[in-house]
Amino acid sequence: MKILVLNGSPKKKSDTFRLTDAFLKGLNRDGEHEVHIVNVIDQKIAPCHGCFGCWQRGDGHCVIPDDQNEILDVYRDADVIIWSFPLYCYGMPSHLKAVLDRTIPLVKMKMVQQTDGTVQHEALVDFSRIHTVVICGCGFPHWEGNFDGLKQMCKTCFGNPEMICVPETPMLNVPAAAVVADPLLKRFEEAGAEYAANLCLSAETVAALETPMISAEDYIRNVNGDLS
Ligand SMILES: Cc1cc2nc3c(=O)[nH]c(=O)nc-3n(C[C@H](O)[C@H](O)[C@H](O)COP(=O)(O)O)c2cc1C
Repeated sequence: MKILVLNGSPKKKSDTFRLTDAFLKGLNRDGEHEVHIVNVIDQKIAPCHGCFGCWQRGDGHCVIPDDQNEILDVYRDADVIIWSFPLYCYGMPSHLKAVLDRTIPLVKMKMVQQTDGTVQHEALVDFSRIHTVVICGCGFPHWEGNFDGLKQMCKTCFGNPEMICVPETPMLNVPAAAVVADPLLKRFEEAGAEYAANLCLSAETVAALETPMISAEDYIRNVNGDLS
């Protein structure tokens, strides 16, 4: 399989990417897959100009001459696309959102009403063969609603992707938290192997990956420790 990983953390030591890296380890255990990792922050990707020049060209490319067209070529050819990023203001970091916005060259202007009532643009490529995984880390402890906006956007944009939304991810880069972080990393590795076998994850697996490493009360106490 061809696997494209879009790493949307701007940091060199991304909390979220530690999870993604563990997932990839399990996914590509025998090294038989082709894994292409794009560190989006290092790419030259302008915001979409909104000109719809791509739809006039109709060749699956953007009229802005930067790094996005190379990403589009890999994107349309991938079997699995993993979006890995930290939650920023309940959504995607802006530099990664620019990549998503600029996938519109992969659809046409023509609109199609779906049987479920949604309206979509006719695709230029067969998106049904692309499997999408979203791995999102965040700084808050678990609370109802933190990921709701992101989940709705990803569901609509990617057509029910596999979504793994993990609270308390800054703990992944705190050496003292290894006692709870390492078992989570192990679970991500096992989940990667499960995904390689089935191209989906069971609800139990997702629930295990999203389970907070420590209680919200302990997490908040640790975060606020030096502030009070
Ligand atoms: C600009 C900005 C906005 C953020 N917004 C949220 C948010 O809405 N919810 C949340 O739980 N964490 C939020 N965070 C915290 C990050 O998601 C968190 O620190 C994450 O672990 C960083 O992951 P990374 O190391 O992979 O970049 C925000 C951080 C920044 C810098």
